[in-house]
Amino acid sequence: MGKLLIVANLKSYKNENEAKDWLEAFKKINDLRLNPAEKEAIVCPSFTQLFSFFSYFSSNNVSATLGAQNVSPFDEGAYTGEVNAKQIKDFASYVLIGHSERRNNFTETDDMLVKKVDMVLKYGLNPIFLVQSKETSIPEGVKIVAYEPMFAIGTGNPDTPESADTVAGAIKTTRADLMVLYGGSVKSANVRSFTEKSNIDGVLVGGASLNAQEFIEIVKNA
Ligand code: PGA
Repeated sequence: MGKLLIVANLKSYKNENEAKDWLEAFKKINDLRLNPAEKEAIVCPSFTQLFSFFSYFSSNNVSATLGAQNVSPFDEGAYTGEVNAKQIKDFASYVLIGHSERRNNFTETDDMLVKKVDMVLKYGLNPIFLVQSKETSIPEGVKIVAYEPMFAIGTGNPDTPESADTVAGAIKTTRADLMVLYGGSVKSANVRSFTEKSNIDGVLVGGASLNAQEFIEIVKNA
């Protein structure tokens, strides 16, 4: 089996104090003594927390990497309110692109998502591209895809591991070099049923990752 990526998507949760509590609890991930060649834990906080997470991870040698939840489709410039890939690069290695919450609430189009992927690649970051089905188009240059069916997100009703594995397999037939993660109501009690499938290379976790202890359990059980 190849390497597993276990991603926490903290979404639009946690102010500075709550983030501090999360980090204090999360530093126990070091007790797992993860082998980076086998398992990588990736945490995606809000932009406002990216610097505190980065500082905390560095000063406590936390064995996890950082991702951003979004990126500007533009390069640096006169784009008030946007955070661009060059800025993210100072703190993070990954960027989530194409989450259904962004497609649906912020009318992100396929064209815009291609621009975001291009920006992320330009600055040497790794896009984690979210697809809602095997039909969703995947921009050139993407190496990591996360399959998240809408019915499974935040509902406590995950896809079956068999169905997720079939979709991941179908996505891989389009490009041989893709890693495919599964996301949607993953928790410590069900993570293994997904990661044991041959086509699934990890998980993307929303709600359950808001509790740092639970996210550590997910990483451990994966
Ligand atoms: P969930 O969210 O784990 O709360 O279902 C997953 C996601 O939206 O990335």
